[in-house]
Amino acid sequence: MGEGIKLPVINGLGRTNRIDNWWSQPLAMGVGLTAALIYTFWRLFLYGTESDNGTSLISYELEGSTVMSPIFSPNVLEWNLFGLNEWNHPEWVNAAILVLWIPFGFRGTCYYMRRVYYRTFFASPVACWVDEPDINKKIGYGGEKRLFIFNNLHRYFLYAAMIILVIKWWDVTHTMHFHSDAYDGYGVSLGTFVMGIEAFLLTMYVTSCHALRHLAGGMLDRWTTGISRVRGQLFGKISVLNRSHGFWFWTSLAFVFLGDLWVLAVAEGHLSDAVLFVI
Ligand code: FES
Repeated sequence: MGEGIKLPVINGLGRTNRIDNWWSQPLAMGVGLTAALIYTFWRLFLYGTESDNGTSLISYELEGSTVMSPIFSPNVLEWNLFGLNEWNHPEWVNAAILVLWIPFGFRGTCYYMRRVYYRTFFASPVACWVDEPDINKKIGYGGEKRLFIFNNLHRYFLYAAMIILVIKWWDVTHTMHFHSDAYDGYGVSLGTFVMGIEAFLLTMYVTSCHALRHLAGGMLDRWTTGISRVRGQLFGKISVLNRSHGFWFWTSLAFVFLGDLWVLAVAEGHLSDAVLFVI
């Protein structure tokens, strides 16, 4: 067995021979993730789900249709299932608090996300050919053990995320059914686009998942006949999507917050939605 080749990395945190802006990507990603965490905390625990006059701040009605904030969808507190709609819950409990562990777990254990947080928050490694903190060298890389063993749950979070995804598309249909004095039928509003784009981006993120690719066909030894051939073809298609998994990660994440801001702005009267057409 040959010995590992040591690259001539200059010693000292962040020191390198690289002449490009190697720090800009991890910096932007770190800022993005931190902003996402702060916004989510603010929205879940500080801002509230109803205004002082009782208006919902997690959804709005338009001619009988309902447009839901992506953060609070699915709104399980309205479900008959398990009697959740009759549950006399504490005021601070909202739908997102009950459900967000699924998208958090799914994104937190995502293979692409691991690369992002290892670089941005642990500086391990900072970037290719850039030196890392001394403490990282002392600790070394011990594999995904201890707390990181939770990363092995990714495939189970994938199953749960697929259920959420179906409900997201179901929520899109709720934006398309208008029944009021002025309208009676199916159509499209601006809110349909907001929720539809969010559901589409999430679909792309889920269908480009490494674990889904493994599930589809990666776990098989060969794709020769019958169902295995179909699974091999599926593996090939997911592999194409998988090349852009990082792109879908960021766009789907960003649209959760853009969609929430849209719902908040309409619910508070700063913007107004419009029915584009009804048939
Ligand atoms: Fe990123 Fe599965 S690997 S969602």
